[in-house]
Amino acid sequence: MKRPQIKTSLPGPQAKKLIKLDKSFVSPSYTRVYPLVADKGKGLWIQDVDGNIFLDFTSGIAVNATGHCHPQVVKAIQAQAKRLLHMSGTDFYYTPQIKLAEKLAALAPGRGAKRAYFGNSGAEAVEAAFKLARWHTKRELNIAFFGAFHGRTMGALSLTASKTVQKKHYNPLVPGITHIPYAYCYRCAYNLTHPKCGLYCVHWVEDTLFRTTVPAEEVAAIFVEPIQGEGGYIVPPPGFHKELKKIAKKYGILYVADEVQCGMGRTGKMFAMEHFGVTADVIAVAKGIASGLPLGAMIAPAKIMNWEAGSHASTFGGNPLSCQAAMATIELLENNLMKNATRQGQRLFKGLLELQKNYECIGDVRGKGLMAAVELVKDRETKAPATDWRSRIINKAFAKGLLVLACGENSIRFSPSLTVTAGEVDVCLSIFEEAVKEVAE
Ligand SMILES: Cc1ncc(COP(=O)(O)O)c(C=O)c1O
Repeated sequence: MKRPQIKTSLPGPQAKKLIKLDKSFVSPSYTRVYPLVADKGKGLWIQDVDGNIFLDFTSGIAVNATGHCHPQVVKAIQAQAKRLLHMSGTDFYYTPQIKLAEKLAALAPGRGAKRAYFGNSGAEAVEAAFKLARWHTKRELNIAFFGAFHGRTMGALSLTASKTVQKKHYNPLVPGITHIPYAYCYRCAYNLTHPKCGLYCVHWVEDTLFRTTVPAEEVAAIFVEPIQGEGGYIVPPPGFHKELKKIAKKYGILYVADEVQCGMGRTGKMFAMEHFGVTADVIAVAKGIASGLPLGAMIAPAKIMNWEAGSHASTFGGNPLSCQAAMATIELLENNLMKNATRQGQRLFKGLLELQKNYECIGDVRGKGLMAAVELVKDRETKAPATDWRSRIINKAFAKGLLVLACGENSIRFSPSLTVTAGEVDVCLSIFEEAVKEVAE
């Protein structure tokens, strides 16, 4: 089995030069956790500018769904590049955007006519959902969750409640948003245990929030990640979405699923909400949808997406290249990759559970499909977050040629491309174990 090859110190000489240049010219607001300067990618493998080869279990933050530079995706982009690069779907029609909208409408769960709006990113997809929810309901208030990440534009940022550094000095944000606890059962905000809790966190919305501070009939939408991503790859318990959606429906509130990270097949289903048997009113997708080309989409029933011409648009949103990349990506997902996500996700999950048996610092293992995480603790009883160990493990893994990223306060996520093989999962697990052993023992 192919393994990473690290031939230089990290960063290597070429990487060092580029990082120095980056420090002079690139915005310092980016959060680079380790000094990877990527040069080429193929499948799960990334070569840096010094020729070092890494096994990528980040897929560019859950974006390269089909692996780096999948030949079918590259071919689709090249073919489109020769025909038409841009014409702006805001003012003109072109085939790739229309065909992709038709495809997304067919894929999105739920009966009846559906429509798609296109932007360039996850934040733009969420932003569009935010505006549509206000436009359609003519209501001003919204509900979102602590730990949520919905993006960094002012509207999406107002819904985000992940880290204060993302919000510091940007206030005032969009008013009228109330954040509530997510169903993070490993660290329940109410100190209860599922299923004995009877989904207290859901019923609290109706019994307390709507009774005391937030008039339900003024709420436009509840924005929720089916599985919380940046917040820690948190999978809510069965019934959470179903019960919450029921409450939303009772008061005419839209249930908006932010599938930007968990959607497009990553969990083994096209949309993560399908695991919970719930049909969202509005869906936001991005990241994995176009295998690396910038694209965000917001999908809703035609009766909800009934805003007037000029009410929202984007010059570049849904450009021909991104739409063709998305069509090729979706074809690959439907053919085999979603099945592979389930299969390899189970292998990864089993491997992580084995590690948990041997290493006390792995407090929790969670996820669905190829959206998996471990939460690191100093002590399983107190669950004291091992945030410093988390960073050291990620850096050790990098030094050994495995790319992983953090999520939540003290978790590490595994979000490889859906093309990952059993052998690649095993290499990841063995390197990860070495890193954990060196830090936590
Ligand atoms: C769930 C979720 N929504 C929205 C976003 C924002 O996406 P983008 O960075 O493409 O704007 C992210 C990005 O991590 C995300 O995970």
